[in-house]
Amino acid sequence: MSQTSSATDMLALIQNRRSLPTPCMKSDALDEAAIHQILEAANWAPSHRHTEPWRFRLYQSQAAREALGRDLAEIYKAAAGDAFFEAKYEKTRTRAAKVPLVAAVICQPGEKAALPLYEEILAVGCAVQNMHLAAHALGIGMIWSTPGYYNHAELRRLMNMASGDHFMGFLYFGYPAQAFPTSKRRPIADKVTWL
Ligand SMILES: Cc1cc2nc3c(=O)[nH]c(=O)nc-3n(C[C@H](O)[C@H](O)[C@H](O)COP(=O)(O)O)c2cc1C
Repeated sequence: MSQTSSATDMLALIQNRRSLPTPCMKSDALDEAAIHQILEAANWAPSHRHTEPWRFRLYQSQAAREALGRDLAEIYKAAAGDAFFEAKYEKTRTRAAKVPLVAAVICQPGEKAALPLYEEILAVGCAVQNMHLAAHALGIGMIWSTPGYYNHAELRRLMNMASGDHFMGFLYFGYPAQAFPTSKRRPIADKVTWL
């Protein structure tokens, strides 16, 4: 899909946006201009008192993505305890190396704004949705992945997080190697009370 130009296009984009599992992504490098458009879309998210709490660490080079996978696999192992699965370790170790771009998402609440944490986290969620919509509009697949070890001390160290920062997951990007999956929603009427 190209750039949206009308309300109809925008509403279709919202409905057609899909999460693309990483095995369905090509390893081809992403267009640099498109990456910057996706980041710019994130930056136009709303935030109460303009805290702009979204922070991203971009793993783009092959070496950086391989190192990320190795480090995450070790963190998974340390955090898993008795629930350790070799297959999950291997998937964690190799996943980032197979896609062209991984973004770690961190919420860094505005120090002076003193907002409830949920407001800052919601603002980051808005930024990620902007990114997902922008990526989809540009023909790039994305999936948001939130590992169970999101608050592990080693992950926080790896992400260079300050004590007030909150880890929000990884975004995996890649051109689709096959058609986007389908999805469905339960009716909006079941979630709305009209008064
Ligand atoms: C906050 C958040 C965390 C998510 N974490 C994961 C995840 O860890 N693994 C995963 O496969 N999908 C994850 N997803 C993607 C959802 O599975 C996906 O949005 C859902 O299945 C609906 O599909 P769609 O995005 O194609 O509409 C996450 C989505 C959100 C909003």
